[in-house]
Amino acid sequence: MVCLGNICRSPLAEGILKHKAELAGLNWEVESAGTNGFHVGEAPHLLSQKVARQHQIDISRQVARQFTKSDIEKFDLIYAMASNVLDDIREIAGPDFDPEKVVLFLNELYPGKNLDVPDPWYGPEPGYHEVFDLINHTSEKIIKKYALRLSSQD
Ligand code: 4NP
Repeated sequence: MVCLGNICRSPLAEGILKHKAELAGLNWEVESAGTNGFHVGEAPHLLSQKVARQHQIDISRQVARQFTKSDIEKFDLIYAMASNVLDDIREIAGPDFDPEKVVLFLNELYPGKNLDVPDPWYGPEPGYHEVFDLINHTSEKIIKKYALRLSSQD
């Protein structure tokens, strides 16, 4: 789960997807990172923490880190929260960029629409609730997609 600062959107995405994967019995390794290094070492934004906590998800122990080229190899799938994040990942990856592996997160909910998860960083609290709901719905769809795929392999 990748956004710009790794303090607002992607920590929520990490916390929500991890939570749902655990509930679904999926043994997934979910991490998050930011393409810029401005907030490395920081905890998630207090409003992201607050909104997550209201949904019984604790993201307070996450620590912001910067996305690196090695993440491309390490993970099976990389979700970019927005198209400017995808552009950054393309630049960081260089020739290792794989468009099948690095995808826009909201295309899971709205296929082919290439929509961004809005950045709540500059706005007030309601923006964080909207972002939570959007990430929550999308994560639910991702879980259903892969849980179904795995159960059909039995
Ligand atoms: P995020 O929001 O990408 O959802 O973590 C941002 C947080 C900080 C900055 C940009 C976006 N920043 O430039 O400091």
